[in-house]
Amino acid sequence: MTIQFAGFSKLDRLQRINYIVENRSLSTDERESFDDYCAPDSAQQVLFNDMIENYIGNFPVPMGIVPHILINGESLMVPFVTEESSVVASAAKAAKYWITRGGFKAVVTSMTKKGQVHFTWNGDSDIISNIFPEIRQRIFQSTNKLTRKMRQRGGGITEIQLLNKTAELPDYYQIDVSFETADAMGANFINSCLESIASVLPNIPELNFGNHQVGIIMSILSNYTPDCIVRCYVECPVKNLTDWNKELKGYAFAAKFKLAVDIANLDISRAVTHNKGIMNGVDAVLMATGNDSRATAASVHAYASREGRYKGLSTVRVTDEMFRYELELPLAIGSVGGISKIHPVVQQTMAIMNYPDAGKLMMIAAASGLANNFAAIASLITSGIQAGHMKMHLSNILNQLQVNRLDRERAINRFNGSHVSYAEVEDYICQLKGEQ
Ligand code: MEV
Repeated sequence: MTIQFAGFSKLDRLQRINYIVENRSLSTDERESFDDYCAPDSAQQVLFNDMIENYIGNFPVPMGIVPHILINGESLMVPFVTEESSVVASAAKAAKYWITRGGFKAVVTSMTKKGQVHFTWNGDSDIISNIFPEIRQRIFQSTNKLTRKMRQRGGGITEIQLLNKTAELPDYYQIDVSFETADAMGANFINSCLESIASVLPNIPELNFGNHQVGIIMSILSNYTPDCIVRCYVECPVKNLTDWNKELKGYAFAAKFKLAVDIANLDISRAVTHNKGIMNGVDAVLMATGNDSRATAASVHAYASREGRYKGLSTVRVTDEMFRYELELPLAIGSVGGISKIHPVVQQTMAIMNYPDAGKLMMIAAASGLANNFAAIASLITSGIQAGHMKMHLSNILNQLQVNRLDRERAINRFNGSHVSYAEVEDYICQLKGEQ
């Protein structure tokens, strides 16, 4: 087998596929499957071709709808893109549960993003600190052209600070820049501004004289966004906590729910899983809207550690009268820019939600996360998680076993309400086949 990867990016899509087929001895069926989710002559396909390097095909992930989630009194349909069977059903169940209990309330408290120019300067720290106010002005001016359009949209650079990090690393400083990016996530805008600022620093005479020099290390936005915050909560009288489960309701439900949330606050093993449940909903909305889910996940998990210990991200307050469940997340996401205008499905998903602006999209993502999290905890403390998962799990197994419609119905009846494992379902299908 020849492994000769040089020049792969210069090949066109068909040549790349041929290359893979030859070098990995794929069958004709496997070769053709590269085309299964492509429309080779469509305009959309051309967009996908150009979206990433070395493109060979599309990888489908299911998209579902949470049909009715009430956020700040507005009824919304929310598209979820996720490969996990139970995520849409759980969010939809929690969303429905809360409709009759006041729905979700959400607020965006700030949308500031930051980035840093990391550099070294081998002079006296007092000198750079003293002249920085004047340098700041020059830096602002140097970005005027780049920020013009963003300023017209209500954004731009709002703050430029010098951070002295020499106690942690000799000669190390940061120019820490705060940005408002309106409805865009703004990564390209922020990085362009930072690189422009970095190009100015080595030419400032007050910093570059004799053997004193600015040494630029790198310029990049920070995906840690503790100043880009959305808060979301659900609240109702404790006595209205009925109907999730027949046995556990009212104060008993609230008290056990609180214990589960307390455990996520004190134990990292539980906290990570608890937060993963939140991200089930958040991530599904980010995927559906073409947002950068990796950046958001990195920020969210760092935020979960902001007090020096990784904790669950949601908090619960239970009094004799009221139950309140709240979530605070740093979500630096956008409703314009990125792939939102070119991705054909993102245009549809935004239309389904009536084209939310960035702030509203933050609220929708947070409410979806809280819905998934509430459903997970409510199920965990009552019926357990498997009961709800079994239906979708069975469906996936039956699809894997390529079961016909009649046997599928028989299997659904046979396993209704009981535990499902791949082996048991396979045995049952074999038994049916034997009888036929
Ligand atoms: C599964 O995707 C998510 C849960 O594990 C979340 C949780 O345990 O809270 C059910």
